[in-house]
Amino acid sequence: MMKGIVLAGGSGTRLFPLTLATSKQLLPVYDKPMVYYPLSVLMLAGIRDILIISTPSAVPVMQELLGDGSRLGLNLSYAVQREPRGVAEALLIGAGHIGHGSSALVLGDNVFHGAGLPEVLRRCRESLDGCTLFGHPVPDPQRYGVGEVDSEGTLVSIEEKPLRPRSDKAVTGLYFYDDQAVDIARGIAPSPRGELEITDVNLEYLRQGRAKMVELGRGFAWFDCGTHDSLLAAGQYVQFAEKYEGERVACLEEIALRMGFIDAEACLRLAAGMRQSDYGRRLADIACGPA
Ligand code: DAU
Repeated sequence: MMKGIVLAGGSGTRLFPLTLATSKQLLPVYDKPMVYYPLSVLMLAGIRDILIISTPSAVPVMQELLGDGSRLGLNLSYAVQREPRGVAEALLIGAGHIGHGSSALVLGDNVFHGAGLPEVLRRCRESLDGCTLFGHPVPDPQRYGVGEVDSEGTLVSIEEKPLRPRSDKAVTGLYFYDDQAVDIARGIAPSPRGELEITDVNLEYLRQGRAKMVELGRGFAWFDCGTHDSLLAAGQYVQFAEKYEGERVACLEEIALRMGFIDAEACLRLAAGMRQSDYGRRLADIACGPA
């Protein structure tokens, strides 16, 4: 079974002073903590065994927020990353959790939304051979990892924050790996900025001709909430989708219900504990309605 990892550490310096005293991934994106969004993506991919990696001070708060996951039908565990030594370090910290199987790594500040996302994720899981990355067109690709694919979706180049991007496709912070990822991560050296770069892991798969990038194009929204503006934009997007389009973005209890991780009765109990908020009231409607 594919294992999941949410990497929710780092120091969030681009969000100062918001993150001087709290972890970025606990900040609100409209009506829920940021970490709900990447967690929802793993759940939509059908993954229930998930390791959450964060800073020494944030791990206890994440534990208070999400617990062992059993109320959502999940198995959540936690690990500390002492210093932000790079995204690829998540594969080393998570080596025991991943074992000898496949894994999905998601960055704790990434928000994905779009019709058909569960179906895309399911197909990518089933056809996984090597690594699968997810690209999204952006107006400012030089801020991200940038991928270029051939007509088959095979990755032909990937560059981290290039000055002259070869495409407008940002490599989003969701990575599906086969059982080789931990070994590959063990073999890479720190970059000049002293970090184990996830792009170097992906480059090794690319060299082996086993790296794909699936485009989450029209109809998909993607945000990395790393700056004040993108954090606000993500919140405004979620507000609009939920208030005016009748969508529910990253409502973990609803996803657990729809995925069959919990039943309607359990969902209603969770809603009852939050009935003072709109979130809880809407959840109660969902639990009572046709599943
Ligand atoms: O969001 C997508 C982008 O994420 C990709 O396009 C890039 O290829 C990828 O390198 C990454 O770029 P960022 O500039 O956003 O990386 P950053 O160093 O900010 O780290 C991404 C997230 O991971 C951030 O929320 C903090 C967390 N993190 C980061 C590092 C380096 C950790 O938890 N631990 C770490 O050691």
